[in-house]
Amino acid sequence: MKKTLALALAVVMSLGLMAGCGNNSTPPANSTPPTNASTSQPGSAAASIPDAPTGGGTVGVCIYKFDDAFMTTYRNALQEILEGKGYKVTVVDGNNDQSKQNEQINTFITQGVDALIINPCMTSAADSIIATVKAAGVPTVLINREPTAEQMSAYDKLVYVGCDAAQSGTFQGELILDTPNKGDINGDGKVSYIMIQGDPENIDAQLRTEYSVKALQDAGMEVEQLDLQRGDWDREKGQTICANDLAQFGDQIEVVFCNNDDMAIGALQSIQSAGRKVNEDIYLVGVDALDAALNEVMNGNMTGTVLNDAVGQATEAVNQMENLLGGATFAAGEQSVYVPYVKVTPDNAKDFVK
Ligand code: GAL
Repeated sequence: MKKTLALALAVVMSLGLMAGCGNNSTPPANSTPPTNASTSQPGSAAASIPDAPTGGGTVGVCIYKFDDAFMTTYRNALQEILEGKGYKVTVVDGNNDQSKQNEQINTFITQGVDALIINPCMTSAADSIIATVKAAGVPTVLINREPTAEQMSAYDKLVYVGCDAAQSGTFQGELILDTPNKGDINGDGKVSYIMIQGDPENIDAQLRTEYSVKALQDAGMEVEQLDLQRGDWDREKGQTICANDLAQFGDQIEVVFCNNDDMAIGALQSIQSAGRKVNEDIYLVGVDALDAALNEVMNGNMTGTVLNDAVGQATEAVNQMENLLGGATFAAGEQSVYVPYVKVTPDNAKDFVK
């Protein structure tokens, strides 16, 4: 219901009719309303939007590490959108080191940035990051690693923009269910899989791992986990884990679930070296829709992937930042804004190539 209201609000805002609709908040004059974003339950994203945003300010962007394929696309999109709107932007590399990122946040605060966009290195650091930005009074958009609603409720000038990680897992499971034998290639009545996980501290890794398998089980399939290992989102680790598993389990492996595409590309190299053929004697799925993965989906070397919409999320992060700069505050429980994932198959993969 509230989601519907949020969407209706977006439509009204896009029509420029807000002033006459009887709502007691005023839209930001030059911000773009979310087009494909939806808020987490419950609620509309910006609880109140009193003033116009201040384009042309300074923005500090903290990325957990630059050496991450998906976050590279994401940070480039953020930089381009922000600079295109006239903001002065500094993007820094946390090198996957939370203490280093904490220093970077403090430096931005000392420099007097108008807003922060932060991709935390560690989910567990959310409390201290939120306390720091709150003490400094800097409007902040968190991205990519979702804290709990309770953690976010500590600061009303804070919003999270990301995706519903469970949805990407479900889509991965559905990609396997859409195959002719629903993943049970050898017809023994169960789907035997290996799971190559991202950084397990990350909620995306946890929920993709859980919901990909749950989709199979919910459809009545029996499953057998042959192995689960952390590959930390990394291509080389994906390759090594998959190579070891293929050596150990051989033809028993029917499905390779990877929490992201970079690890799936690595796994594919091992699958090919082992003389296996995707979509014939093994299935392989990832998440992100990196260009390299889209090519492999189109070539039949990956069963499918899931679009993790970097440009959509970057656009939405900037929209919400502008809402905050315009004076918006967010009520507890209404601080997450989600951009939808999209299932990618050979039929639609070409639509997502950048
Ligand atoms: C995920 C993405 C991964 C990795 C991770 C970093 O959403 O699918 O590829 O970038 O974020 O936190």
